[in-house]
Amino acid sequence: MEIIDINIGYYFGAFLAALWIMLPAYVPNPIAVLVGGGYPIDLGRNFFDGQRILGDGKTYRGFIIGVGSGILIGILQIFIQTTYGLNSLPNHTLRSVVLLALGALTGDLIKSFFKRRIGIEQGERWQIADQYDLVIGAFLFTAIFNYNWLITNVSLVIGIMILIITPILHRLTNALGYLLGMKRVPW
Ligand code: CTP
Ligand code: MG
Repeated sequence: MEIIDINIGYYFGAFLAALWIMLPAYVPNPIAVLVGGGYPIDLGRNFFDGQRILGDGKTYRGFIIGVGSGILIGILQIFIQTTYGLNSLPNHTLRSVVLLALGALTGDLIKSFFKRRIGIEQGERWQIADQYDLVIGAFLFTAIFNYNWLITNVSLVIGIMILIITPILHRLTNALGYLLGMKRVPW
């Protein structure tokens, strides 16, 4: 009888690598939810179609503190890596960390722009886009401004792992935020 050899260690390693890479991109959104409020980025203005450009859900405070926290987490990761020499994990750099955090919340902003254009109200859910906006933003930014880092650190398996774990983590954090009363809706 053949034994199907599924290498658990290999996939677990890819899972850890995916988490490690995406941490600076995962942190900004929940932090924005926690601290958000104040001036909306579109300053309350409407687009040509009479709808808000972005809506009240995208604020300066959420954006700046969100991106800042993603960068801080990344700096902590770089510190841990250089101190303990975690060579089996992908290596972050200041540049990768900034691009991942900034790209994640910029992806979120652009998604809201499109949500308003197709008539989805602020806070309403838009399946798939709500879950992958940060991945698209983070990867677009690193692909444009740090291509070498991207291709040396994100292998195909890690990339697929990111696509699998992102919606799961998104669901879990949103459900948690809702249960703790920090989010108005569980998505
Ligand atoms: N938030 C913020 N600034 C951002 C992103 C988020 O202040 N740049 C805060 C807002 O309080 C927002 C909450 O986090 O209401 C949830 O974020 P998100 O789900 O991304 O926005 P929505 O309110 O759902 O708006 P949209 O429909 O435009 O996605
Ligand atoms: Mg939302």
